[in-house]
Amino acid sequence: MRVSWAQLGEQIAACEKCRLCETRTNVVPGEGNPNARLMFIGEGPGQEEDRQGRPFVGRSGELLTRMIHAIGLERSEVYICNIVKCRPPQNRNPEPDEAAACLDYLRAQVALVRPRVVVLLGKVACQYTIRDQVFITRDHGRWYEQKGVWFMPTFHPSALLRDPSKKRDAWEDFQKVRDKLAELEAAAGTEGTD
Ligand code: URA
Repeated sequence: MRVSWAQLGEQIAACEKCRLCETRTNVVPGEGNPNARLMFIGEGPGQEEDRQGRPFVGRSGELLTRMIHAIGLERSEVYICNIVKCRPPQNRNPEPDEAAACLDYLRAQVALVRPRVVVLLGKVACQYTIRDQVFITRDHGRWYEQKGVWFMPTFHPSALLRDPSKKRDAWEDFQKVRDKLAELEAAAGTEGTD
């Protein structure tokens, strides 16, 4: 059964499906335009996100926000969320059982937003969505289409902060995302005309 945004928010806020609930300060469900054409999926909340209950508000969030601006969009126009909605202690990767416990929330978010394009930020985001074995250095910038939704793996912003030499590749990926949105928009505009 399809949940509403309100029901989903209540379920996430009360969630105790995995051990991450024991150490969280706040759940970090996601935020943005509920009808966004473009969605970003990260890994899991960090310290600042856990404190504020909002995704990507720390240092990597600042970089993500700048990259969103660079393709001509505002944060309020896109939807931003994570694989897991609670912070893994010490910012470790989510364990497979934690991700599995949380995935229904992500599926519900995708079903509600119905994005045309999804940017997967880093290996963990790819691993639990499009495929198990992902090497971002090899697979970034390639499109994966599933049921009419276009998925683009790219570097996690924190990887770009650690290694700024990757920023050029990430920027190329973001340009592809910008172009795909324009292409889909143009195609939608001509649908039904001949
Ligand atoms: N890193 C993530 O993957 N998600 C956030 O929300 C913040 C940092």
